[in-house]
Amino acid sequence: MSSPTSAAGSAAATGVTVRPLDTGSDADLEAVNQVHAAQEEQDFGGSTAPTVAQTRADCADTKFWRQQRLVAELELAGRRQVVGAGWLGLPLAEDTDQAMVQPIVHPDHRGRGAGTALLAELVRIAREAGRTTLTAWGTIPLEGDVDDPSLPANRLAARFGMSRKNVAVVRVLDLPVPPGRLAEIWARAEPHLGDYQILSWTDRTPEEHLAAYGLLLRQLELDDPDEDVVHEAPEYTPERIRIAEDRKARTGMRSLVAVALAPDGTFAGNSVVEFRGSPATTLGFQENTLVMPEHRGHRLGYALKVTTHRMLAEHAPQLRRLVTWNSHVNPWMIRINEDLGYRAVGREITYQG
Ligand SMILES: CC(C)(COP(=O)(O)OP(=O)(O)OC[C@H]1O[C@@H](n2cnc3c(N)ncnc32)[C@H](O)[C@@H]1OP(=O)(O)O)[C@@H](O)C(=O)NCCC(=O)NCCS
Repeated sequence: MSSPTSAAGSAAATGVTVRPLDTGSDADLEAVNQVHAAQEEQDFGGSTAPTVAQTRADCADTKFWRQQRLVAELELAGRRQVVGAGWLGLPLAEDTDQAMVQPIVHPDHRGRGAGTALLAELVRIAREAGRTTLTAWGTIPLEGDVDDPSLPANRLAARFGMSRKNVAVVRVLDLPVPPGRLAEIWARAEPHLGDYQILSWTDRTPEEHLAAYGLLLRQLELDDPDEDVVHEAPEYTPERIRIAEDRKARTGMRSLVAVALAPDGTFAGNSVVEFRGSPATTLGFQENTLVMPEHRGHRLGYALKVTTHRMLAEHAPQLRRLVTWNSHVNPWMIRINEDLGYRAVGREITYQG
């Protein structure tokens, strides 16, 4: 990929151009950060606000993923300006027929062909890399027909041969959760915990837990209710976990991890909060929460979440919001989240084709 490409169809008339992101250019990285920040503010009411150096580190490949970043430009106020960012992820160890594609356009500049132009180029690169299945995620409003053909994300997905495989509800939680609320939830969970213990750590998995934690992460992906999405659960070997942790450290991502230890010494479940360790960050992510099927009914889900929220007060008092995605076929997790104070703000569709 080298020279800028003109967007197809109506977009060409509006002068959109798409080119590779120049990871050596602070201006390019800053422009991409602004596109992401505007989208996060609009969709979630907060921003992960990475620094330029963190975004540059984010663009690096690992032995498990290769990626390609694009920018879309329009003529604004007499000069070319970045209005959209495209990401293509090529998994190298599993899902090797797939390409993950993500076009994001600044909310102020939508409807001018930038989304179509980015996706066209992402799809071209995916084909060139020999990938035969596309996976993408689109945001749509909380209310209304999920398949409404007038929604921009649905239009874009359909144009490139993708269809809906899963719907997740996007929920946000204002921080901090009042300590009294956490104490109340803990008091209701504690009598059910029995001989289970909750362990916690930040960022790096303790050496002695690497193997067991890897099994838990794989189980999480096997169990994640995601309807018709085709996805192979990765093998989280100790090496793979360490590679991911090193990458997170370079990109400024921090993790707060809680794990439930069963009486037989195995891991029964976990919950993770991730956030960018950058001064301007206001938004974090509630990632995988899982309780293994044979350990359900001990209120471990509640205990795990209370634990990560108590850690948030210590490690990330600057965060104002967490966002999480729950498949609508996962009523248990939704109930725990709503008890904590999460509220639904939108929906996310996973498309494949
Ligand atoms: C989806 C998204 C990338 C579209 O960006 P965009 O620059 O507006 O895209 P385009 O201008 O190429 O428009 C795409 C389609 O949506 C329609 N559209 C765009 N904005 C619209 C609006 N405000 N109202 C109605 N339709 C709109 C366009 O008409 C076009 O459909 P058409 O070609 O059949 O006429 C953008 O909304 C976005 O960043 N959303 C968040 C991330 C996301 O959902 N990505 C989609 C992954 S498939």
